[in-house]
Amino acid sequence: MSTLWIGTSWKMTKTLDEGRAWAESLRDDLGGVAPTGVQPFVIPSFTATTAVGEVLGADSPVLLGVQNAHWEDAGAWTGEVSVPQAKDAGAQIVEIGHSERREHFGETVETTRRKVSATLRHGLTPLLCIGESLEVKDAGGSAEFILEQAAGALEGLSADQLSRVVIAYEPIWAIGEKGRPATVEELIEPFAALGEAYTGKVTGILYGGSVNLDNAAELLRIEHVTGLFVGRTAWELGGYLELLRIAEAHAAR
Ligand code: PGA
Repeated sequence: MSTLWIGTSWKMTKTLDEGRAWAESLRDDLGGVAPTGVQPFVIPSFTATTAVGEVLGADSPVLLGVQNAHWEDAGAWTGEVSVPQAKDAGAQIVEIGHSERREHFGETVETTRRKVSATLRHGLTPLLCIGESLEVKDAGGSAEFILEQAAGALEGLSADQLSRVVIAYEPIWAIGEKGRPATVEELIEPFAALGEAYTGKVTGILYGGSVNLDNAAELLRIEHVTGLFVGRTAWELGGYLELLRIAEAHAAR
């Protein structure tokens, strides 16, 4: 069974003090060892990346990420951060194509493709987010839509490069305050499609969108799901620790 990737993006939340406190408590709770069968990861905002990495420590079992990075290594791109800069700040993962970035910041299939390529070129792990709107879902087009988003972003990769990619399927209608949790039934078909295309070829296929302590176990039981990508439920450390425990229990089945 694949290692379960269980992680959180903090989106645009947490001060340095809040981020350090979360990371300190996580470090102390784990005691240097990941739960068996689980790969924890945390994706703070840029300002907290280095601080969180320093608190977790160089040998931490928790991987560290950033929420975005530019495809160029350096240059006149005001407001952007490059993959080498993210790496320099301690990041091992680059989140790419979250629906909030697609909706508000002009992220396209083309820019996700360039960012995946830059991330791999620098030896970091691309965490590619894909997901359809409610409109697409209601028209019955979810599987086709997300396969197209993934194929576009991963176009031209060798088998070896593809094997270093993590995919997160996050239906837009299930994300955040405005979203509602997806039912297991609604996720069977999209994961069957993703599984057919990518199981065994990528590092993992995660689910994200209103993951909570009540639905995490059943989400992990869906075929082809190999982890969870979590917002709100994990922002309080207690919630994240509970998710890790649920995943560890699932891995031990
Ligand atoms: P949520 O966020 O868990 O708060 O719904 C998920 C995400 O955007 O990744």
